[in-house]
Amino acid sequence: MNPGSRIRVGLIGCGTIARWQHLRNLRKLGTARIAALADPDSEALALAARRVDARCFRDPDALLASNDVDAVVIASPTGLHASQAAEAWCSGKHVYVEKPLAHDASSLQAVLKRVHGAGPVFAVGYNYRFHPACRWLRRVVDAGAVGDVRAVSTHFTEPVDAGAWPRWRRERALGGGVLLDLGTHHVDLYRWLLRDELIGARVERGAADVARDHAIVRGTTTRGVEVAGYFAHAVSRSHGFIVHGTTGTLQLDLHAGRFVMQRDRRFGYGVATRPVIMNLAGLSWRGRKWIQPSFDPSHGLAIRAFVDAVSNPGRRDADLAGVVDGTAASRIVIDAEAGHR
Ligand SMILES: NC(=O)c1ccc[n+]([C@@H]2O[C@H](COP(=O)([O-])OP(=O)(O)OC[C@H]3O[C@@H](n4cnc5c(N)ncnc54)[C@H](O)[C@@H]3O)[C@@H](O)[C@H]2O)c1
Repeated sequence: MNPGSRIRVGLIGCGTIARWQHLRNLRKLGTARIAALADPDSEALALAARRVDARCFRDPDALLASNDVDAVVIASPTGLHASQAAEAWCSGKHVYVEKPLAHDASSLQAVLKRVHGAGPVFAVGYNYRFHPACRWLRRVVDAGAVGDVRAVSTHFTEPVDAGAWPRWRRERALGGGVLLDLGTHHVDLYRWLLRDELIGARVERGAADVARDHAIVRGTTTRGVEVAGYFAHAVSRSHGFIVHGTTGTLQLDLHAGRFVMQRDRRFGYGVATRPVIMNLAGLSWRGRKWIQPSFDPSHGLAIRAFVDAVSNPGRRDADLAGVVDGTAASRIVIDAEAGHR
């Protein structure tokens, strides 16, 4: 890559997230250009190719072998992430791989064997670390707004049209299931928000059929903070966080764009509730949500951080999840599921 030139990105997997987020977000960056697309499905490839002038490959390995690609964004089915990410990184490409990094113990072990030490940038797509409201939540917690944090409870639910789902989403062995889809985001956020490791995570799961899949994850951090998360495809949409501290409670609802602080009333029973004033990035997110309720800038911000890390080696944003973070989140989910069987 020539210094100062735009990073040539190859997009591997041109499905839903690639089209709704990565293609759009990469096109907005002045520092990168989409040079290549790969997808074995000719329809998905053609849909993506309509939006960008790039070389097209039906075979992702051919894209990886191409010399005119500096970095890849991998948005293929989950069960392929570990092998494709390791292959890309070992061939000298910078890698942004969608979450989760691995779906089972053997693919996790295999990627760890191959991706370690110095080399190209390696990032895992835990985009909520870049969400302005999540960042503000972390800042407020760090500043001691709720005293000592004792517990965090979260929920992330997305109804699905299972009939329209691709096969990989319907089979756990291929990377399907609510824990790998939604739960993994929060498992990563518990570690990131609390700057601590999650130990002894366990899962209660109901997954008679995958469209009704739901799970409750519980665990404790090394400093003794209790965490619990509810994840489901079987109920209506929700996404939120409650941080319980010794002097207050913080609630963040990502869909409502609401951020609330509660403290015990000084006199009498009950709580005093106040909205939390966010910084400019948070306020602008909330303002934009009034016009576009689905607005979520976190994917674009995460990809920008990746491209910046490639452009400025040595100045990687500490919030960009790397192989250690990707491994930790995958391991927690895989071990918790194994304990459940
Ligand atoms: N970060 C987030 O919030 C977020 C949101 C949605 C999806 N994702 C992740 O992105 C990934 C893709 O999800 P999606 O909803 O776009 O799925 P999808 O099924 O819509 O898209 C996957 C695409 O990969 C293609 N594909 C199949 N085999 C391939 C191969 N060998 N190499 C390359 N591509 C191949 C498919 O043809 C399809 O076009 C999943 O791992 C998912 O967890 C992340």
